[in-house]
Amino acid sequence: MTQQIKSLEEYKKVYAESVENPEKFWAKQAKTFTWRKPWTKVLDYEFKSPKVKWFVKGKLNITENCLDRHLESRGDQTALIWEPNDPSQAYRTYTYRELYEEVCRAANMLKANGIKKGDRVCFYMPMVPELTIAVLACARIGAIHSVVFAGFSANALADRIKDASCKMVICSDYNSRGAKNIPVKKVVDDALAMGCDSVETVIVHKNTGEKTAMKRRRDIWWHKAIEGQRKTCRATQMDSEDILFILYTSGSTGKPKGVVHTCGGYMVYTCFSFKNVFQYKEGDVYWCTADIGWITGHSYIIYGPLLAGATTMMFEGVPTFPDAGRFWHICEKHRVNQFYTAPTAIRALMALGDHWPKHYDLNSLKVLGTVGEPINEEAWNWYKKEIGKGTLPIVDTWWQTETGGIMISGLAGISPEKATFAGYPLPGVQVCLVNADGKEIRGNGKEGLLCIKFPWPSMIRTTYGDHERCRQVYFSAFEDKYFTGDGARRDRKGMYRIIGRVDDVINVSGHRMGTAEVENAINEHENVVESAVVGYPHDIKGQGIYAYVIPNAKIKNEAAFQKELRAIVTREIGPIAKPDKIQVVSGLPKTRSGKIMRRILRKIASGDTKNLGDVSTLLNPEIVKEVMKGAKK
Ligand code: WTA
Repeated sequence: MTQQIKSLEEYKKVYAESVENPEKFWAKQAKTFTWRKPWTKVLDYEFKSPKVKWFVKGKLNITENCLDRHLESRGDQTALIWEPNDPSQAYRTYTYRELYEEVCRAANMLKANGIKKGDRVCFYMPMVPELTIAVLACARIGAIHSVVFAGFSANALADRIKDASCKMVICSDYNSRGAKNIPVKKVVDDALAMGCDSVETVIVHKNTGEKTAMKRRRDIWWHKAIEGQRKTCRATQMDSEDILFILYTSGSTGKPKGVVHTCGGYMVYTCFSFKNVFQYKEGDVYWCTADIGWITGHSYIIYGPLLAGATTMMFEGVPTFPDAGRFWHICEKHRVNQFYTAPTAIRALMALGDHWPKHYDLNSLKVLGTVGEPINEEAWNWYKKEIGKGTLPIVDTWWQTETGGIMISGLAGISPEKATFAGYPLPGVQVCLVNADGKEIRGNGKEGLLCIKFPWPSMIRTTYGDHERCRQVYFSAFEDKYFTGDGARRDRKGMYRIIGRVDDVINVSGHRMGTAEVENAINEHENVVESAVVGYPHDIKGQGIYAYVIPNAKIKNEAAFQKELRAIVTREIGPIAKPDKIQVVSGLPKTRSGKIMRRILRKIASGDTKNLGDVSTLLNPEIVKEVMKGAKK
């Protein structure tokens, strides 16, 4: 097992070691795993290209480390707990041995359906155990998984399937979320009708069992396909740098990009960070409420916990069904020890009243975590007081899809804590602040652009099918540094506080959205000439989506127009990207070179119109008044 740090002194010592001799440090962690063949070199890198290789020429299979190696020591320990959407339905558990057998059966099912090493398999599924099982089954045979969050639209799904030329889609019939029963297979059918020629097979898991259309020779039921499959499946030998998975995420420009993670480094880093941040102890029950459609679910529901031999839980439902006590009910029911959620969920539950957590016995809890967006002080204090009884440690974990694992965070109960501050970087993580010219800002009590100046094992390797884009987006802004897109502040003691994105990415309820993506969707409307989308502070979601829209003619029925625009965004991306506010305008403030002045639009959307700065140099300064006047409250 990777090292588990036990005190602040030890953290300081280990951190110093990890910076002085990163290769030695990471080799020590990596040696605790099962490798088929050892690596010949720990690290080979050049940020300029970028080229990053960890544990060069090492051979392994990550599932042997998640499953096989635990069989002897903890075969009968619960590996996975699944809590269904409907609390009256029975929950399910899998021991390490059962999970191993299910993964092997699913792996044999994939092979029987033509999936080989290197093939891409797309997932579009609710939070059911079969998702975890099939993801691991891919990894077992060296197929590359590309999980798409099941809230995305058919269009968005089709884009992702095409980008990765997926050979198979695995989905469910329906998704039960709260009181809703959402068709899932139907969305896959619609996506596949959009020219996803690479897809040969669709495996459909029966979840709710309602009527589902199946296409002959393409669609097969999971339960039929898995019938009779053997409970053992030899794991395919992978190179450290073979692709483990692709996960799409939004950036400032263009369509979402497929972030690529590879086997060796991702394995070492997710396990190490999991054990240290959450201070997981043998026998603990750990629960991360994220969806596996996002990176948090990949790294901290599936891989990190299973690599560490933990008991990990997945939850199918929503925090408010059947009522706002659901999270706390689950904590009580399963005696949860580590609880990891998003600020948006904390704010939503906080708004529903302090009495909800009081109905439940939360004494099993030892560690609270948050992820995905900056946590405001009020939510942090509520979490600490109402859930943590004022005493439990909170780990505010900063990281990204691209970083693969947690980068800046306290180690629970060990590191100093400060509301709204993520804290210190994890061992092996060399963060820095730079100014706009790329010059490193030294010393404490400073603010700047957050960069990472040395490779870490789980870092992004490329963007699928477009290496140049990876270079350009992350490695070209500042020489020899990975640029995160976030701004941050370092306090007097060197602790980091993440301020938020400095690019055109907005973070809505912890979900990343590119403003350009939403604009492209809005511009699909036949009566739209141009649009500009910005984020604004939102009490529950963190950021809301504000769209300024220029129509090509006078809009007679604005309510109907707004409804159409929201429907288009839902169709193109999904309901999570629906603008909260839409303002019809006759023009947008632009520079003389024709660039939209988003800074001004952001201020107006935030209701902060006092400090707009000098607008006289704009191409159309008169428009600012009009936009201000019509701003939506
Ligand atoms: C933001 C999620 C403040 C940040 C794991 C980052 C955070 C983006 C935090 C990545 C945090 C994530 N405090 N901001 N603890 N965690 N962010 O790729 O802006 O979905 O760049 O990964 O979320 O979002 P992503």
